[in-house]
Amino acid sequence: MIIAVDGPTASGKGTIAKALAAHFGLPHLDTGLLYRAVGRQVELSGGDPNSEDDALAACAFPEALLSDPELRSEATGGLASRVSVHPSVRKALYERQRSFATQPGGAILDGRDIGTMIAPDADVKLFVLASVEARAQRRFNEMQQQGRKVTLDEIATDLAQRDARDRTRKEAPLRAADDAVLLDTSHLGRDDAIAAAVAAVEAKALS
Ligand code: DC
Repeated sequence: MIIAVDGPTASGKGTIAKALAAHFGLPHLDTGLLYRAVGRQVELSGGDPNSEDDALAACAFPEALLSDPELRSEATGGLASRVSVHPSVRKALYERQRSFATQPGGAILDGRDIGTMIAPDADVKLFVLASVEARAQRRFNEMQQQGRKVTLDEIATDLAQRDARDRTRKEAPLRAADDAVLLDTSHLGRDDAIAAAVAAVEAKALS
């Protein structure tokens, strides 16, 4: 069984994908991490994320970079969003994602274009969404717990910018596949969002 989980930043797709992987016993790939590693590698090598050549060269990042805690930062998320607009970068990362998706026994991947490009043949496609306000508030709470000084306004502006870039890029823009199940988590807590996702997968897999 292949499960695709797509959605914008801070929609809860990562949490949901991890929980589904544990529930159904499937291996999970957070594909955003690959784009984050490319963004971080560009930064480490002093390149420009808007340059397609620099971003493509950074696709040969060392594997150890995937466990760099800096990959999770907002700044690296912004770099990832920039490098991800380049078609050659998306192509360079395609095979790795596709072979993960098609491994025997199934897999679950989360990202922006899993249901549309990486695994259009997925058995179940979830598109997780939430209002900008709800997403900004979640990010704000996370950051406060980490002791980072940011305002809710700054986070909301940054989220809206990243959404706009991810949705309007020419190559594989963020959008729900026609056959995706939409899951709005704006008014759901973590456990309810996970329960709704499990129910959606079970309903789809049985249909
Ligand atoms: O899910 P995330 O916030 O870690 O993703 C970071 C950026 O990577 C996101 O803004 C766009 C890009 N991305 C993408 O283009 N395609 C994917 N499948 C996953 C992420």
